[in-house]
Amino acid sequence: MEFKEVIKNRYSCKKYSDKTVEEGKLQAILEAGRLAPTAKNLQEQRVYVLKSEEALAKIDKVTPCRYGAPMVLVVAFDKTNVYTYPGEKRTSGVEDATIVATHMILAAADEGVDSCWLNRLDPDELARELGLPENEEILMVMDLGYAAEGAGPLANHFSRKPLAETVSYL
Ligand SMILES: Cc1cc2nc3c(=O)[nH]c(=O)nc-3n(C[C@H](O)[C@H](O)[C@H](O)COP(=O)(O)O)c2cc1C
Repeated sequence: MEFKEVIKNRYSCKKYSDKTVEEGKLQAILEAGRLAPTAKNLQEQRVYVLKSEEALAKIDKVTPCRYGAPMVLVVAFDKTNVYTYPGEKRTSGVEDATIVATHMILAAADEGVDSCWLNRLDPDELARELGLPENEEILMVMDLGYAAEGAGPLANHFSRKPLAETVSYL
């Protein structure tokens, strides 16, 4: 798909059909995350693919926002392998994992796979449910699947501030 079309077509899907995400499409999505840039090329992201009933039930335990998606990605990062920026106020983990997640969510749109970015959950609770190691912090959860019949973008998708409200030229 043309890049501008990918950007336009992505939306947060909040009702999925049972149709599973094909393995080839999953691999294309994961590969887009692999190619994402990270600070100092640390590649501290950790991506978990959840598709078993047992794993999806763990998502349902911590958030109401799976919306029936047959596959969920959990994007985390290794807190012990981050770059601390000069000034020592921030480290790279959150933004590196965010870039990885953004690459993957756009790759999903390119593959015609619907998605939703979730943060309505306690990441520590989910980490415990999934048994993640102590050194990993969950950044986000991504629903993946195909929109149920009749489902589509909500009104929010079409409501964006004009550039004049968010961009300044200095
Ligand atoms: C960081 C982030 C967290 C979000 N968390 C949730 C969530 O927990 N549940 C949900 O239904 N949607 C969630 N969304 C989806 C947003 O509500 C949605 O992106 C926004 O309303 C714009 O709509 P659009 O994605 O369809 O363009 C989240 C989006 C982002 C970027």
